[in-house]
Amino acid sequence: MTEHRLRCTECNTSYAPTPTLLVCPQCARQQVKGEGLRGVLEVDIPELEAKLSDAGGRPWWRRESFDFLLPVRPDGGRREVAVGGTPLLRATQLGRDLGLRHLWIKDDTRNSSGSTKDRASDLVVRKALEFGFETVAVASTGNAATALAASSAAAGLDAVVFVPAQAPPAKLVQMASYGARVLAIDGSYDQAFELCLAACDRWGWYNRNTALNPFTIEGKKTAGLEIAAQLHPQEPDVVLVPTGDGVILAGIAKGFDDLFKAGALRRRPRLIAVQPEGSSAIVRAWEAGLDAPEAILGAASVADSLVVDAPRNGRLCLAKIRQSEGAALAVSDREIVASIQGLARRSGVFAEPAAAAVLAGLERAVQRKWVDPDERIVLMVTGTGLKDVGAAAEGLQDQPVIPPSLDAVEERLATWPEPKRSI
Ligand SMILES: Cc1ncc(COP(=O)(O)O)c(C=O)c1O
Ligand SMILES: [Zn+2]
Repeated sequence: MTEHRLRCTECNTSYAPTPTLLVCPQCARQQVKGEGLRGVLEVDIPELEAKLSDAGGRPWWRRESFDFLLPVRPDGGRREVAVGGTPLLRATQLGRDLGLRHLWIKDDTRNSSGSTKDRASDLVVRKALEFGFETVAVASTGNAATALAASSAAAGLDAVVFVPAQAPPAKLVQMASYGARVLAIDGSYDQAFELCLAACDRWGWYNRNTALNPFTIEGKKTAGLEIAAQLHPQEPDVVLVPTGDGVILAGIAKGFDDLFKAGALRRRPRLIAVQPEGSSAIVRAWEAGLDAPEAILGAASVADSLVVDAPRNGRLCLAKIRQSEGAALAVSDREIVASIQGLARRSGVFAEPAAAAVLAGLERAVQRKWVDPDERIVLMVTGTGLKDVGAAAEGLQDQPVIPPSLDAVEERLATWPEPKRSI
């Protein structure tokens, strides 16, 4: 196993990992209510340069898995759930419409349970097995719970998940189908987060809460590693990331950072966080030049996965955005719903509202000239639209039912505008 350490992202103290170490105990004491977590830990992988230059007989960008850069025993390629290794799609039609020459979609809808959260859950489950836990718990807006339920099912672990009862029904059905004990809370995600903390304290479960568990950021770094490998020898200039708690963004930044520190990337790509206007604590803090977000009471959006009052990883997320010379912007719910179809129709990728939000964000970034038409731009598409067809339907007209006759077909076809053909 990799001899890794856990380093506090605020006071820089380095710790040997233990089953109970989550955030930095010293910084956690200075916790300010409503500003997210203090003392989030990052994994330090030793000898990055040596590992990347001697990647088992293949160059690092051609490896089948990035286990050799993760704090786990290499599993010899044996996978029990399909996590990571998702395609980087060339988005030609979409790029053309936006006047961008090099646009890609990192299609993370293809993960086992349908979202980027599988990357974090898979690593946390592997650590839980290593530490000897039988039960793993999480608070989630929906996808992290679903992902934990899936990875735990495959590993034979018990999953207990705390989710707002208002989560999209497909997510609730999916997580229960994997056999998790689903605790549907009459309250917000932020309340579920606190409840999960207390429950883990009481029953001794391993806590997968995002940002609190350092392996959540580390698991998501594989998305950054894969983007860099898939574009190699070119490098991404900009990555747009849908942001709630700010862990996916920090994870992608960590992946790029590992490569940058080892000399495998020439520079850190700019990271642009995209949030809904109704849940935009990180955007507001970025615009105001603050180090920590201020909680928004009663955050709300059609992009349920991004709804969080106090982003848990807000401090680190803001630091990563600044380190990459990136930015943060907010988009409206109307734009998010429109971007579900905008993305599906011009790329063939069907995304849930949170994930589609990056397209609305890209349109805004183009208008503001935050991206250049010649830059290599990646949209991080984090969750499948099948998880929330209700939201997608909001942007569509009702389909009239027609009799099974060719005349009726002809009549109906006449109501559509000519299909757009692009060559
Ligand atoms: C599909 C999807 N996209 C984006 C996010 C935001 O990730 P984070 O909370 O790490 O910023 C989530 C979080 O639940 C998600 O499920
Ligand atoms: Zn600390």
